[in-house]
This record gives sequence, structure tokens and C-alpha cells, in this order.
Amino acid sequence: MPITQFKIPEKYRYQTGFLANLETEAIKGALPIGQNSPQKCPYGLYAEKISGSAFTAPRWENQQTWVYRIIPSAAHSSFENAPSAKRLELSYNYIPDQLRWDPFDIESDVDWIGGLHVVAGTGDPALKNGVAYYIYGASKSMADKSAFYNADGDMLVVPQTGSLDICTEMGRLLVRPNEICVLPRGIRYRVDLVENEPIRGFILEIYNGHFQLPELGPIGSNCLANARDFQIPIAAYTHDSSSAWKVYSKFRGQLFHTTQTHTPFDIVAWEGRYYPYKYDLGRFNTIGTISYDHPDPSLNTVLTATSNAHPGTAIADFVIFPPRWLVGEDTFRPPSYHRNCMSEFMGLIQGSYIAKDGGKGGFQAAGASLHNCMSSHGPDAATFDKASNENLVPLKVGVGSMAFMFESCYMVGITDWGLTKCRKLQPQYNEESWGGLKDLFQPPNELQLETVGI
Ligand SMILES: [Fe+2]
Repeated sequence: MPITQFKIPEKYRYQTGFLANLETEAIKGALPIGQNSPQKCPYGLYAEKISGSAFTAPRWENQQTWVYRIIPSAAHSSFENAPSAKRLELSYNYIPDQLRWDPFDIESDVDWIGGLHVVAGTGDPALKNGVAYYIYGASKSMADKSAFYNADGDMLVVPQTGSLDICTEMGRLLVRPNEICVLPRGIRYRVDLVENEPIRGFILEIYNGHFQLPELGPIGSNCLANARDFQIPIAAYTHDSSSAWKVYSKFRGQLFHTTQTHTPFDIVAWEGRYYPYKYDLGRFNTIGTISYDHPDPSLNTVLTATSNAHPGTAIADFVIFPPRWLVGEDTFRPPSYHRNCMSEFMGLIQGSYIAKDGGKGGFQAAGASLHNCMSSHGPDAATFDKASNENLVPLKVGVGSMAFMFESCYMVGITDWGLTKCRKLQPQYNEESWGGLKDLFQPPNELQLETVGI
């Protein structure tokens, strides 16, 4: 701490600053000075604007980037349906049960696109309203001369196994377990494995708006995720205007593809504030009680996508549970039993989580759980017993561990893949977690009742 010691060393350079207006040139002088679209751009490049928000969105949420590229992205053939379109389903089963999944498998001979599975979600990307949660698993890099973009929303990627070498239009990102990245709506990219190691992880997709840093309120101007720790690619391009490239598009959950005779990774320079970025979760500055009681997990929010209709109510929060000190006096230190009008999807990158036994069949790394809108949950019986009786000395928890939560104001549904096809749902989750809770009620005797005037 505060920086994760990664198994795979960094190999790219980055710019920094969350939502900063940045500019970057792979060739000096490629950016026009003082204007966006001169009659002739430097070096014979084409100007292209990528809008991530409405032209007239307020300045603080307006996100666009001007790119200067060798061939405009419009030059391609008609889109056709891609064979694996069925994987990205948008039909859901809405059930109130608490759900937990064993670690998800990584299929053999699949790439990033083939390994995307929606496990839960709600809403409709056509209306730009809703979320989708994915499990991804890939055992090979994307095919040579192929790229992908998602028209449906922004994707926040949480690697659990293996590192992602992501070539984006704006430059390159290396994203390793304990880092996250955000791939904004519409940006072309491809995903390669690193040292042929298979990849697996989780994705939070939001159909509305973009992720922001949470407000800090009385915390002040620092802590949680600091803006300077977000890393953004620098411009990098290849020059290939003669070979056939295939570009895949996820468009309202359906997969299409098109061909073009130039690489999509031909941006020589760009400027703006609409771009992919990554963040090392080890840099998160965790805040907690130094007196008593268990604060709400909103204190651990890394990024939030707010609902404009209801300030303070998130379409989706990305929340983490990093290593931290627990020092609360006279306090039940794990989360208490609760029912939440928000839905809570949790995953574990590594280690174990404070409120659940991490043993075989429990909440395991690469597994997940869902506690939907108003579905009761909390510590399992063993955790309650331990936390109610332990000696409350200062204790460091979560060492070597990282759990996270996608928390949404939406009631989310489960796909058929999540319920049955993945074959990872734990049928006894409720019984095993809370079936063993004992009646500990000790009512006062008659004499005591008289004393208190009942
Ligand atoms: Fe909860």
C-alpha cells in the first residue's frame, strides 16, 4: 500500500487526472492549434469528433474528444449480424431470492467478445436507462485485425484473473487484477491476453450517463479515489490503410460486425475529456469509523453514476472493500442485517470478505452474490457468532483481499445464463448462511418487568 505490487510490470505511459481536458500527440504538431477543424489538418489527417454527451449538456458533464486520424471511422461496409449475438441477452427473470454463485468458469477457445455473459441487469439501452452486469472469461486474444465497440453504454471492467492488454483508439492500457478500467460508449478497442494467461472478471455497464467521482461532503477535498490517480492513454497509432479489419458492434445487446480496409487504431493525436481510463484500487484512500458503529458502505465508493432525477441516488455505484483497520469500540464490526431499497451485486477479486465465510462453498474469489431490492441479508451465522464475541482490539482486516459491489437503485433481473446455464448458482445459499441463526432473546423476568413499569 498505497500502490498495488503487480505481478505484471507496467509497460505503457499515461496521462493523469479524472475527467481532465487532455491533449496528446504521437507526432509533434498533429493537433491543430486554437481550432478543431481547420480546412486542412496537419499531416493530411482527418478531424473526427466523438461526443459522449449531448452537445448542449452542461459544461461539467459535457464529454467530447476531437481525434485526428488517418482514415475516418465512417469508412466501412454495412453491418451484419454476428453469430454470437444470442449471448448478450436482455431478457431477465425478476426474483426476490438471495443468490450466490460459485467461481465462474473460463471457457476454452473464446476471446473477449465470445466470453461476455450477462448475468443480471435491467432496463433498455435503446432508452439509455438501466444497467447490465457481466461475467467475462477469455482464453485467447481477439482475432488479428479485429476490434469491438459498445454503443449501449460505458463498461467498468473489474479483472479477477489475468491481465488485459487493451488497444484503444486513444492509446494503450494494461489492466491487471486489482486495477479497473472504464471503456466509454462507442470507443473502439481490442483485448489481448498477456503472456497467454486466461482472463476472467466482472463488468458493470451503465446505459445512462457516465461515471463520476462521488461527492466528498464533510470528508473534504481529498480521500477515497483521488482524481490524480486515474490513468489515461497517450496517443499511439498504427498506419495500415490496406488490409481488411473486422469491427464488432454491440448495439442494443445485439452483436453486429462490419469490415473496413484500414485499422481503427489510426488516431495520431486527440484532445478532449471523453476517453478510456484505468485506476489502481490499491490507491484508494479508505475512510472508516475511529469511534463506534459500522458506517454505510457508500463511504467506500470509487465511482458513481448518478441519477439526475434523484440527487444522491445512484444508477450504479462501484464500491470496494480494501484492506483496512477496524477499531470501533463496543461495535458489531461487520455489516449488520439489513434490507436495502438498492440492489447489491457483490464479487470477490481475491481473499475473503468480512461478512461471509470464504471457505469451500462460501463467498469465493471469482464468485458473486446478489441481494436484490429489499431482499434481507447480512452476516452468516458463523460470522455473527464470531463478531459478537471477539475481543475488540484494533484489527486489520482484508489483508490480501479485495471485494467489490455494484450497487444500483434499480431492481435487477437475472438472465437464464445466470440462473441455469452457467451452472454456478448455489442452491443452499440462504439455508447455509442464515439457517443456523439462533434465538438469543433473553426477556426480563417478572421482577424486572415491574421495575421498568411494564
Ligand atoms: Fe448489503
